[in-house]
Amino acid sequence: MISKSDIEELFGPYLSMIKDENIREGTVKAWVIGCERGNWQSVDELKAMPFTLLTDCKGVNFIEHTLAVTEGALQLAKAQEKHYANMPYGIDYDRLIAGGILHDVGKLMEFEKDGQGGYRKSHAGKCARHPISGAILADEIGLPEEIVNVIGCHAKEGDGRPQVIETVLVHQADFATFNPLVMITKGNLINE
Ligand SMILES: [Fe+2]
Repeated sequence: MISKSDIEELFGPYLSMIKDENIREGTVKAWVIGCERGNWQSVDELKAMPFTLLTDCKGVNFIEHTLAVTEGALQLAKAQEKHYANMPYGIDYDRLIAGGILHDVGKLMEFEKDGQGGYRKSHAGKCARHPISGAILADEIGLPEEIVNVIGCHAKEGDGRPQVIETVLVHQADFATFNPLVMITKGNLINE
């Protein structure tokens, strides 16, 4: 069983940046419940799990991806705050960090082991892709609706839809980690 303290250890440095206790606790709770519902038993399993089934992850695991997207979104926010004399919008860092940690939480329910050392889409995943299942989970826990927007709209489901700025930043950080892997598979990443 994956406990609250396991999740706190995985995401500790980022969780500690979340000032609002309810958001911090809710973020951990969503991961614990996601692990239960997806039947993930150990942190080692989470670290062995690919972050997408849509392309070859080249060994990048689900936890590494979640951490990289959270850090990427954070730095995109800080870059604008550092260099814009007049920020056109405010950035809510609790929302941004919780949204980064949670953007793919629905994958805990969307993926399952295929029994042959690989992974496949679960029945739940066929019924609701991870932005939908993750958004439902966050809403059920009582996380703010803006964090529900980050989760629900971070991928193609959010294209052309109203988004909070934190959704935009998480989306860009997410695709900055995903697109190069797709490009490698297609032979389109110039990598020499
Ligand atoms: Fe992602």
